[in-house]
Amino acid sequence: MKIKDKSFKILIQEEDLQDKIAQMAEAINNDYKGRAPLFIGILNGSFMFVADMMKHISLPSKVSFIKVASYTDMKSSGSVKELIGLSENIFEQEIVILEDIIDSGTTMSAVIDQLKARGASSVAVATLLLKPKALKINLDIKYVGFEIGNKFVVGYGLDYDGLGRNSGAIYQLK
Ligand code: IMP
Ligand code: MG
Repeated sequence: MKIKDKSFKILIQEEDLQDKIAQMAEAINNDYKGRAPLFIGILNGSFMFVADMMKHISLPSKVSFIKVASYTDMKSSGSVKELIGLSENIFEQEIVILEDIIDSGTTMSAVIDQLKARGASSVAVATLLLKPKALKINLDIKYVGFEIGNKFVVGYGLDYDGLGRNSGAIYQLK
């Protein structure tokens, strides 16, 4: 597959993604039996994962989405991550974050901190993909679909320069 100047080859077939997502959902259904966590997907990349995951979730759960905006703070001269679009009151709410990929972990770390700061009673993470060698922050990730190498991937919601999200499989840079 070619996107702009880059060539990609298949990494995870559509069928394998779907099987794994069903398994992850089963684990969540078992772990949260009798409870009703709020599922929060992180846009844009997670839209396919959330859609497919939620079809297998049998808990009486709500689903919501947030975006994470990064900007540079002049005072701290660091990158600040702001959550956009969370309208629910999450005070004393159990939360399961649904994310497409965790790379360095900085995005996820900021999301977890801010959800906890708003009073969430628990925050668990389910990520379809994890790049263990890229992880720079110690994160407790409860549900991981696939651990992958440090190569750039696209498809199934993930993009290269905005393109490639509309593919049922995942491809890695050649
Ligand atoms: P982190 O903050 O470094 O963990 O990066 C997480 C975000 O970077 C993800 O939500 C993706 O949007 C993006 N990202 C990281 N690795 C890839 C990749 O291989 N392909 C596409 N997007 C990626
Ligand atoms: Mg993402």
